Amino acid sequence: MSASDIAGLIRNRAGTEPVDTGLILGSGLSSFADGFEGVSIDYSDLDGFPHAGVSGHNPTLFIGQIGAKRVAIFGGRSHYYEHGKADIMRLPLEVLAELGASEMIATNAAGSLHPHTPPGDLMLIRDHINFSGLNPLIGEPTDRRFVNLVDAYDPGIRRKLADCAADEGIAIKSGVYAWYSGPSFETPAEILAIQTLGADAVGMSTVPEVILARFLGMKAAAISVITNMAAGMSDESISHEHTKAMAPIGAQKLSRVLKRYLAGGFVLD
Ligand code: HPA
Repeated sequence: MSASDIAGLIRNRAGTEPVDTGLILGSGLSSFADGFEGVSIDYSDLDGFPHAGVSGHNPTLFIGQIGAKRVAIFGGRSHYYEHGKADIMRLPLEVLAELGASEMIATNAAGSLHPHTPPGDLMLIRDHINFSGLNPLIGEPTDRRFVNLVDAYDPGIRRKLADCAADEGIAIKSGVYAWYSGPSFETPAEILAIQTLGADAVGMSTVPEVILARFLGMKAAAISVITNMAAGMSDESISHEHTKAMAPIGAQKLSRVLKRYLAGGFVLD
């Protein structure tokens, strides 16, 4: 099914009102949509949607009103490391654009490279380093592939998210996220390398989604929930189980920030 066919199916089930904001929920963060009124659609009903089978993700698309915004929430994402496809999230993001969204906010669990940003902290991504060398637009035949990534993480949305965090009394850092392909975690030497290059956090997602969102004309923003110190930076052992166990601590803060942001119904500039 094409993105416009899938968008039509979603409108049939959830109503035709355009979506304002798309949210992508990361590992251990998939409960954000719980308790809101709206329509949930299994990815398996959306022909061509990726499976999003990593534990800690919920392969459901929620459409509903949260505060002032009509929101599409992707309860799970697919990662490059599941399929070897950097553009695995292209169809969901095309659908989001078809539904009318002007902005996409991604969330993720990430390892911290910063001694002053411990597990449980939030980091607003200000820029990224594509350490994977992969790109979701490889193979795109049009000149639209040459996407400008200056201010890819929209400064206006970042300012508003930072204000929302401050209003909630939540400290939020701002930093650079490095995309590592995964699924193995990084070596301590790799962490030292990306630290030297200027990264503050590391993870296995988000970067391809932000590139795709910009390609599709949507504004983008992203927040990391720090679940661990990156490899070699602490004695704690790194594992996916640990990520899932730690994510809810930061996720509580993240959901307060996001709810306030959506409730505000900010006019986009
Ligand atoms: N590295 C990569 N991805 C991650 C990490 C990490 O340390 N923690 C959570 N996701």
